Amino acid sequence: MEVNPRVAEVDVRLVNVTKKFGDAIAVDAITLDVSDGEFFTLLGPSGCGKTTTLRMIGGFEQPTSGLIELKGVDVTFLPAHERDVNTVFQSYALFPHLTIYENVAFGLRRSGIKGDEIKRRVARRWSSCSSSALRSEFLHNSQAVKHSASPSPARS
Ligand SMILES: Nc1ncnc2c1ncn2[C@@H]1O[C@H](COP(=O)(O)OP(=O)(O)O)[C@@H](O)[C@H]1O
Ligand SMILES: [Mg+2]
Repeated sequence: MEVNPRVAEVDVRLVNVTKKFGDAIAVDAITLDVSDGEFFTLLGPSGCGKTTTLRMIGGFEQPTSGLIELKGVDVTFLPAHERDVNTVFQSYALFPHLTIYENVAFGLRRSGIKGDEIKRRVARRWSSCSSSALRSEFLHNSQAVKHSASPSPARS
C-alpha cells in the first residue's frame, strides 16, 4: 500500500467526498482532516449526512466521488474488513453468549493477538473503566471465564 508522506500525520482525511443515493445528495463535497489523537465531533441536524459520512469512513458505503485517506493511505474503495477502523454503534451490540471479558477479547483474537497479550490488553481496558459497578461486573465475569475454562478448548 502506498503511503502519502505529506499527510501521514493525519489520521482521517476526506477530500471533496460526495455521496448520492439516486438523485438525493446525502453528503455534499465534505473536506476535513482529523489529526492523530484529536477528538472530532460531527454535529448537525437529522438527515444532514453524519451517519453516511461515518459509514464511508468505515467502508460500509462507497463515495460517489472524492477521496478518503487513513494515515495517508487511500482507502476510498477498500472494503470495511480491510480497514483499521472501529465503529461503536448508537445501539450497541454485544455477544450475549459471551462474558464481558470475552466480548472485549473477541476483537483482539480476530486481529491475531494471542495468549497473555490478550489478558494484558483486556486488563488495561478494565483499569481505564471508570464505573466501579462495571468494573466489579467485569471482574466477576473474568473470574467466571477462568473457572469455566477447563472443559472448553483453549482460545487464546
Ligand atoms: N441507504 C440510503 N438510501 C437512500 N437515502 C439514504 C440512505 N441513507 C441515508 N439516506 C439519506 O441521506 C441523507 C443523510 O442521511 P444520514 O447520513 O443518515 O443523516 P444523519 O446521520 O445526519 O441524520 C438523508 O436524507 C437520508 O434520508
Ligand atoms: Mg445518523
